[in-house]
This record gives sequence, structure tokens and C-alpha cells, in this order.
Amino acid sequence: MPRNLVGIDALTRDKILYLLDMAREFELRPNRKLLDGRIVATLFFEPSTRTRLSFETAANRLGAKVIGFTDPKVTSSTKGETLKDTILMVGNYADVIVMRHYLEGAALYASEVSPVPVINAGDGAHQHPTQTMLDLYTIRQTQGTLENLNICLVGDLRYGRTVHSLLMAMRHFNPTFHFVAPPSLAMPDEYKEYCREYGIHYEEHEEFSEAIIAQSDILYMTRVQRERFSDLMEYERVKDVYILRRDMLREAKTNMRILHPLPRVNEIHVDVDDDPHAYYFQQARNGIYARQAIICDVLGLTLEDIRHD
Ligand code: CP
Repeated sequence: MPRNLVGIDALTRDKILYLLDMAREFELRPNRKLLDGRIVATLFFEPSTRTRLSFETAANRLGAKVIGFTDPKVTSSTKGETLKDTILMVGNYADVIVMRHYLEGAALYASEVSPVPVINAGDGAHQHPTQTMLDLYTIRQTQGTLENLNICLVGDLRYGRTVHSLLMAMRHFNPTFHFVAPPSLAMPDEYKEYCREYGIHYEEHEEFSEAIIAQSDILYMTRVQRERFSDLMEYERVKDVYILRRDMLREAKTNMRILHPLPRVNEIHVDVDDDPHAYYFQQARNGIYARQAIICDVLGLTLEDIRHD
């Protein structure tokens, strides 16, 4: 049976910490030809900059070759080929499939029909587990721990798959969450139910105040996801609802760090970029190491294999 990474909820606390330790090895030395002769397929049915390029960088630094597409319009899916047939075909060519798809559940479906491991690079508004692994890596890197942190999630909590996956992963580490969103973009009930089930403490806010920022260890900003709105008038109404500016950071803890999965539009003013709390570009860099670890893991390489390389 192939090993897959479809949802972050499948990972135990020990497995998360193990993958973070593996990612640390890759940060110390990224170029390791552990996957010489292997082929990684990147199938992107939705646009991406960071996820695709960091996966491809990860594969190249591991000595693998990369095939794939960045636009489904240039594939036979435009002729009516099903996702199942596409996955079966690519499974003939590659050793692992990295797939982003606009449909929630597409990664799970692909993993059920694929002869090779499938890694979910984002499925609709559902999950983005590899982003979560790099987020966890970054949180541990900046805070020295994942335990007992105060994490403020701001913006589009309804459609933002990164916040859904982060919330689920943090259940192992006793967080306190502050959900800051307008009512139309509030955290969906299923994730609040998840918090109650796992004893995760959370508070909801409509106002994005300096008082909330002052309590935070991690301030996780998100983009309002235009592509998920059926009503573009509603998007126009909420798109700039929260804009983080440097003068809002006066009371922030010294060690607080601002994260964002990126791309950003207006939600972080550029005057924040030079502030010592800003960490989103370093966060994106960590995607290489986290994804090196994930590719190796689904292909059966262990932490010991990497340490002895
Ligand atoms: N964070 C993220 O998923 O970015 P991309 O959409 O550019 O891949």
C-alpha cells in the first residue's frame, strides 16, 4: 500500500515531531542525493507559486527528477479525461504524485486510486497539510516549542484551508486560538466542533484589536480567497476588512512572529515587512525543508537514513 499525506489529522503527535526533526536535517544540509533515479510528479489543477516551486526545489535538492503541469488546460482533462485516469497514467510514470486541486476531497480520491503515494498540495477550501508542516516547523523554530501557545488566526477563516489544517495539527499541543473574522468569513462550525471535541480553547472576535495582537505568540494572517466566492459583491465588501499595519504592533510581545501562508494582497501593509516581528518570507523558505521530509517519508526513507547520509 502506498503511503500518502492527504489530511493533517492522520498524523500523530509523534509523527509530526518526527517529520519536523527530519526537516531540520534538511535545513542543516539541503542537498542530498537520496532520491537519485526517482521521479516526482507535480499536478497543479489550481495556481500556485510557493507550494509547487518549493516541492520542485525539494525534489531537485534530493536528486529526483520532476514532471508535471501547472495548468490543467494543457492536459487531456480538457478532452474529458477523468481524474482517476489521469492519476493512473501519472502513476505509470512517477514514483510520487503531488497534487493541488480545486475540489475538496480530490486528494483523498486520488490516493484511493493511485498506485504511488499521493501528497495533497491543497484541495479546495478543505486542507493544506504540507503548508501546515512548514507552519509548525516555523512556529517551533521561532518560539522554541509548539506547546501552550497563543495563536491568533486573522481573515478568511471560512475558506482558508491553511487555518483549517493548522487548527487540527495544533490539537496535540494545547494551544489557545483567537479567531478574528467578519461573520461571513467566520471559522466554520465543523472546525469549532473539532475544537470542542479535542478540548482546544478558542475565542471569536470581529474586531482586530491591538489588545489581541498583544496577547499573541503567533499572528497568522490570511488572504480573503476571491476564487472561492460565488458572490463577487460579497468579496468586494470584505476583501480589505483587516489590514495589519506596523503601528498596530506597538504592544506586541518581543518574540511574537507574524506568519502568512502567502500570497498576500492587502492584509499585511508593506510597512510591516521590515518589522522584526515579520517572518512570512522565512516561513515560505521552510517549505523546502518540510517538503523534503514529506517526500522522503512517503517514499519510505527514515530519519536514520537521512542522518547517516
Ligand atoms: N501558501 C501557498 O499555498 O502558496 P501558493 O498558492 O503560492 O502555493
